Amino acid sequence: KYMGIIFDLDGVLCITDRYHYQAWKRIADTLKIEFNEAKNHRLRGVSRMESLDIILENYDKPLSVEEKIALAEEKNRYYREFLETMSESDIEDAVFATLDELRVRRYLLAIGSSSKNAGFILEKTGLIKYFDAISDGNGLNKSKPDPEVFLRAADDLRLAPEKCLVVEDAAAGIMAALAGGFDSAGIGDGTAVPGVTYRLERFEELLEVV
Ligand code: BG6
Ligand code: MG
Repeated sequence: KYMGIIFDLDGVLCITDRYHYQAWKRIADTLKIEFNEAKNHRLRGVSRMESLDIILENYDKPLSVEEKIALAEEKNRYYREFLETMSESDIEDAVFATLDELRVRRYLLAIGSSSKNAGFILEKTGLIKYFDAISDGNGLNKSKPDPEVFLRAADDLRLAPEKCLVVEDAAAGIMAALAGGFDSAGIGDGTAVPGVTYRLERFEELLEVV
């Protein structure tokens, strides 16, 4: 049925949630604003600048665009320190095994991630070799739930959306898939979104639905 599979990165192929949390927490602490795990949850699938806006929701002092950019850059410097420590051992064996099998079955594989650090994470973890196309947060005009990042991935694979399956953990990502005309496989939070095509309890169940 499908010829290509488009994977979200954070929360699907690797777990970077803790790193995002710790990096944002340092920014929130400097500004003396409340930031907790529940709020961190809302940042899944959301771009860096939109994440900052969520963190600044209850901040009463007005910030200029330049100040916001500086804060986002500072967060990214902290975040990159964590990413520097990543290696193959941060990826579950089941992820490598599943991607190996998908390659054996001749699927075209792409990344569809909101992150501007996707290339760096893929290099550090040894995941990069599996992918025929990488569509990430660089040069993206509209982030999920807009379908742009997935449409660009499908286009890079030279496939129509109907020929691709999107694998996602975030609600915004499942909605983006729906908006772009893609079938979707939800993991974690992604399973609870109305309209998701398949619900995966474990990553390797992907092999049963393609
Ligand atoms: C997504 C994450 O993959 O990337 C979000 O789920 C994150 O939490 C977004 O905000 C942007 O990441 P980056 O690496 O460009 O700051
Ligand atoms: Mg995700």
